[in-house]
Amino acid sequence: MNLYPAVDPIPLPAPVWLLKLLHVVTLALHFVAVEMLLGGLLLAILLSLFRNSPNARTTARAVARRLTIVMTYVINLAVPPLLFSQVLYGRALYTSSVLIGLYWIAIVPALMLVYWLLYRFTARLEAGKSAWWVGLIAWLVAGGVARTLTTNMTLMLRPEAWRAMYSASAIGVFLPTGDPTLTPRWLLMMAGGLFIAGLWLLYLAGRSTFTAEEKKFVAGLGGKIVAVCGLIYLAAGWWAASVQPEAVKAGLAGNSPYPAYKFAGVAGYAWLALVVVAVLVGLIAGFGKIAAGWLGWVGVLIAVLVELTLVVYRDGVRDLTLLSKGYDVWARAVTTNWGVVALFLVLFVAGLGTIGWLVSVAARAAKTMEGAA
Ligand code: HEM
Repeated sequence: MNLYPAVDPIPLPAPVWLLKLLHVVTLALHFVAVEMLLGGLLLAILLSLFRNSPNARTTARAVARRLTIVMTYVINLAVPPLLFSQVLYGRALYTSSVLIGLYWIAIVPALMLVYWLLYRFTARLEAGKSAWWVGLIAWLVAGGVARTLTTNMTLMLRPEAWRAMYSASAIGVFLPTGDPTLTPRWLLMMAGGLFIAGLWLLYLAGRSTFTAEEKKFVAGLGGKIVAVCGLIYLAAGWWAASVQPEAVKAGLAGNSPYPAYKFAGVAGYAWLALVVVAVLVGLIAGFGKIAAGWLGWVGVLIAVLVELTLVVYRDGVRDLTLLSKGYDVWARAVTTNWGVVALFLVLFVAGLGTIGWLVSVAARAAKTMEGAA
């Protein structure tokens, strides 16, 4: 039985493939920023504890100073995928958002708190004061936001749980229980943080104005973090994949009404291969303490591709789960308004160009951000 609301008042204004493409690209960028925030913050907290190590302190400050900028990208790159997923999956996503309404709304003040704490954390580091506890509160709140997002993204796939939740509370004060996919999926995102932060350090080692000795420290540390946390990331990915329902696993292997979902399964293997490559790169860079501009760009490329393949795989998991419960996203009514689509694409490309320019300005300014406080 199809438990999703039947009413679907507005046809999609653009083809499903186009909306999905835009969704995947923007969400992958959101994920890169999210992992930089979660991992970079944790790393800066840990490094700040080594108060007798000048290199650790300098690295902690270098990362912390960039976190408030990263936070702007986390948020701005989050809005487009939210809009695309609401357009494509509104009947599922709006319902689950209402069912956890209190927590969903709480994301807004939580984000403001994280922002403020990030500024306090950096200021305390600059002043040479103990800052770890401020950073830790920010990290816990950001991790809570991540948990709320995973909760919503998994609850939208479980219409069978909705009625009982709504009967228990119409204002969304309860969180769903009994979903074996929730925690592994959340931990996969949390585990990606330090892995991406390690790649970020490789970039900083090759591109920032550290001294030669600091560069070696940053590259050595970054490489080793990538190697170790890459293995943890792989384990978390395996766990998150293994708890998916059988219908989803079969679909990802190519056995579904849409064999194209095999592509999402292949993306999963590509993710795995990329993380393995990253571990090897991390080992070489980490033990060789190699700080080079080209290596920094290799790190950036790996980070983007890892998140891109993860998003494609994750999208397959969502669509196949929804399909097994009667929601076929490819069967949505479409009435394309090509004029609006063209205008949107022009603005979208202009927007991406502007973001790229902003990143380059920030990166050039950030190059001079190192040194003692
Ligand atoms: C501290 C800030 C944030 C963190 C740590 C964070 C983290 C995450 C995580 C972990 C996921 C993956 C959830 C999953 O599927 O398992 C996610 C997805 C998502 N996030 Fe964020 N996020 C943050 C801010 C935001 C904001 C402000 C928005 C909205 C404006 C947002 C929109 C989204 C959307 C729409 C998705 C999923 C899209 C989809 O599957 O279609 N995020 N985020």
